[in-house]
Amino acid sequence: MRRRRAADADGADRRPHRIMARRPAPSFVCQNCGAAYNRWQGKCDACGEWNTLAEENAGGALSAPMPGRPARKGRVFALESLTGDTHDAPRLSSGMAELDRVIGGGFVRGSVLLVGGDPGIGKSTLLIQAAAMLSRTGERAVYISGEEAVAQVRLRAERLGLADAPVELAAETSVEDIIATLSHGRTPRLVVIDSIQTMWTDAIDSAPGTVTQVRGAAQTLIRFAKRSGCAVILVGHVTKDGQIAGPRVVEHMVDAVLSFEGEGAHQFRILRAVKNRFGPTDEIGVFEMTGAGLREVANPSELFLSERDLGSPGTAVFAGIEGTRPVLVEIQALVAPTSLGTPRRAVVGWDSSRLAMVLAVLEAHCGVRLSGHDVYLNVAGGLRIQEPAADLAAAAALVSSLANAPLPADAVFFGEVSLSGAVRPVAQAAARMKEAAKLGFTRAFAPEAVRSETSPETSVTLSTVGALADLVSRIAAKGRPRGNQTGRQDG
Ligand code: TYD
Ligand code: MG
Repeated sequence: MRRRRAADADGADRRPHRIMARRPAPSFVCQNCGAAYNRWQGKCDACGEWNTLAEENAGGALSAPMPGRPARKGRVFALESLTGDTHDAPRLSSGMAELDRVIGGGFVRGSVLLVGGDPGIGKSTLLIQAAAMLSRTGERAVYISGEEAVAQVRLRAERLGLADAPVELAAETSVEDIIATLSHGRTPRLVVIDSIQTMWTDAIDSAPGTVTQVRGAAQTLIRFAKRSGCAVILVGHVTKDGQIAGPRVVEHMVDAVLSFEGEGAHQFRILRAVKNRFGPTDEIGVFEMTGAGLREVANPSELFLSERDLGSPGTAVFAGIEGTRPVLVEIQALVAPTSLGTPRRAVVGWDSSRLAMVLAVLEAHCGVRLSGHDVYLNVAGGLRIQEPAADLAAAAALVSSLANAPLPADAVFFGEVSLSGAVRPVAQAAARMKEAAKLGFTRAFAPEAVRSETSPETSVTLSTVGALADLVSRIAAKGRPRGNQTGRQDG
């Protein structure tokens, strides 16, 4: 009786606390999306990935006070108004116009950027170049590598012809040490952390690279950026399915997420904003990887059209818009009789459901039978098109391949195809026409509404297309029977 009462009086209010503080329950955290579970399971319920759960000892360590550290009373801080004195320029140009364009005109003070991309795509190269450009303007730029030794970074800088730039280098992975170092002396204007997956913070006792560590390290660095006004760029690795590895949580924490993309075989690299709190997300920056680093490409159309296969059926030039900039790009199609029960539909650089829709409209309204054919569609140069305006160019390329009828080499195509088979107007037609004229094109296949938008003295003749069926019959009329053509043709 006595024993029980003692246990009640003592254990009732204290025991649970003690257990929680001494030994946090092990937590299994999905390395893909950051969801936490009490026990291991094969599949993450939150994101549906298999085998991504790993044990981490920090369940909620970021929100709960660390064991042994007393809970702190809140500090009173001053609230400010929206209109205040900002002495520094709100944007800091990186010295690379293509990078500035994507982030919306330069770095915002205290902002944090996450740059993701496949290994070897050129993230480190891009960022050492940006840091070097900035440091040459007299601003303090720091490059912290968690992956390479200082000597390796130096070697690369030498190859890039940047060895003379006053970038401050270090090979470090402890976030606390990094911040202590950066807080010393003049505040840097730009800090590159390459990569966030290699960083670790003392406050969390999980292995580097785990979601909890990455999140903790990112949070600490973000706090430093906001406090000091220095812009921070975090490099993030990308998993095989294109997510920035592990912590999608980091994407929510940062101000902008950029993705650096490219096709292995091509020299083109495209920088794209996936999220941007301070600018647009539809701008792209185009670079070319050369022996001496990344070269900015101010006029991407010229580059994308430089390897054109003139006069062969199945290619159409699309006059597109990426952000504020018109970009001409070649769309290539191959339509070939299938040997499979279910024909193949493969698409690179465009939306596969958009392709399915165009194919359905061709079947339903234009009398084009494609159910017995494999269809391949590719956007040249590794560009990824998101605009519906590409419908007309894609349809033209498909029909051209099927009918074995090359499209005029001096023509561009743009227009959205509706489910009824009508060709609908698209935005910024004037800019598309102007770019086509600049690159020497003389004809544009586009919807009628474009006529009112283009200047009468343009060198590009407008061939209006009201319905997709019109265009199909115009292309098919020029078709040649297969076999007349030289080269390999099967089917
Ligand atoms: P890197 O910047 O190390 O890629 P990441 O940091 O994204 O992993 O780029 C490495 C690749 O770039 C490598 O395959 C070689 C190529 N490269 C060049 O072609 N030219 C150059 O001047 C440099 C520095 C790299
Ligand atoms: Mg790298």
